[in-house]
Amino acid sequence: MNYPLLENAFTKHDLNEGVKVLKSRQLTMGKITKNFEKIFAKRIGSKYALMVNSGSSANLLMLSAIVNPLYKKKLKFNDEVLIPAICWSTSLWPIVQLGLKPVFVDVDVDTLNISIKDLKNKITKNTKAIMCVHVLGISSDMNEIKKICKKKNIIILEDTCESLGANFNKLSLGTIGEFGTYSFYYSHQITSGEGGMIVCNNLENYNILKSLRSHGWSRDTIFHKKYKKKYKNLNEKFLFINSGYNLRPTEVQAAIGLSQFKKLRYFKNIRNSNRNKIISYLKKSNKWDNQFQFVEINNKIEPSWFGFALLINKEFLKNKNYFLKFLDQKKIETRPILSGNFLNQPAAKLYNFNKNKKFPNADEIEKRGFFIGLHTKKINSKTLQYLCENLLKIEKN
Ligand SMILES: Cc1ncc(COP(=O)(O)O)c(C=O)c1O
Repeated sequence: MNYPLLENAFTKHDLNEGVKVLKSRQLTMGKITKNFEKIFAKRIGSKYALMVNSGSSANLLMLSAIVNPLYKKKLKFNDEVLIPAICWSTSLWPIVQLGLKPVFVDVDVDTLNISIKDLKNKITKNTKAIMCVHVLGISSDMNEIKKICKKKNIIILEDTCESLGANFNKLSLGTIGEFGTYSFYYSHQITSGEGGMIVCNNLENYNILKSLRSHGWSRDTIFHKKYKKKYKNLNEKFLFINSGYNLRPTEVQAAIGLSQFKKLRYFKNIRNSNRNKIISYLKKSNKWDNQFQFVEINNKIEPSWFGFALLINKEFLKNKNYFLKFLDQKKIETRPILSGNFLNQPAAKLYNFNKNKKFPNADEIEKRGFFIGLHTKKINSKTLQYLCENLLKIEKN
């Protein structure tokens, strides 16, 4: 018996959709990507969606857009961007790479997400944006964040790479701020192997993203006509109007991603039900002794889990390392919650971020937390029993 972090979520149909593209020989981005983008935008409740080759690329594109000369509220060198201490590496690095200054904010232990109280303390006159990293399928109180940001003129960016399908007050996470990003990496809510999406509601911003995604050229953007007229001597197919990357997905990724996307609600319900079953088994057991704390869900949030975070309670904490090794031997795979407090990582020390600042809650999550997988198939009673009985074996200090 085993309980891996990930199980293969591809169905035969998903793979067939990919094979059909291979057979068509049209592998580079085309009609299927466009169709996926259209369906994604509609379902998520955003005007525009643009597919890219990963969630990290979506974050890079999002940050590149807000420092771009064509962006109306363009940020300048060293403008501050708030970011939670529990984040992913590529939530952070585009901020740094694009000449902005990350200002780390502590998180709430109960929700793993950015702390509103600490966020208020960290705002200065130089704060121009906030990178909300919605951790593991939920968020902080986005109404509060919206209120604060509106008052202070702060741009909201949403790294929703871990929370596709989650809602806050009936709005999809990722659609509340100026831009939202998603990841379709193997372990996430849906997968195209690798892949990502970025959404926004402003036509001009969408076209900036489009141009940056493909070399900075004007093709297929609203800017094309104007530049074509002005630069009559240049070949209109090769008009470079902006800086750029190549962050495009392949049609294979789009076909598999679209096929998976149609099952988002189904996967979400199964994962939710599996999580409830695990919690219920643990709590009903006569061995339950409050070994773990589970993430709290605000009643405005409809979560979309892909992993199951557990915080070991203090009376059991001394045995954490021994316990995780024990689970490993039992083939129950675990991992840290994101990367723990990112400021404890050597990469953060290399850049000397927020020296001498303390993030006690992020440290606590790193110390007490770990997560296990939540799969897209209904957990059967044998697996449930195997998993929970082993989880309950953590010993008191
Ligand atoms: C919060 C967060 N942002 C961004 C990413 C990057 O996504 P990708 O792996 O698709 O590049 C991840 C990846 O797991 C993530 O957890």
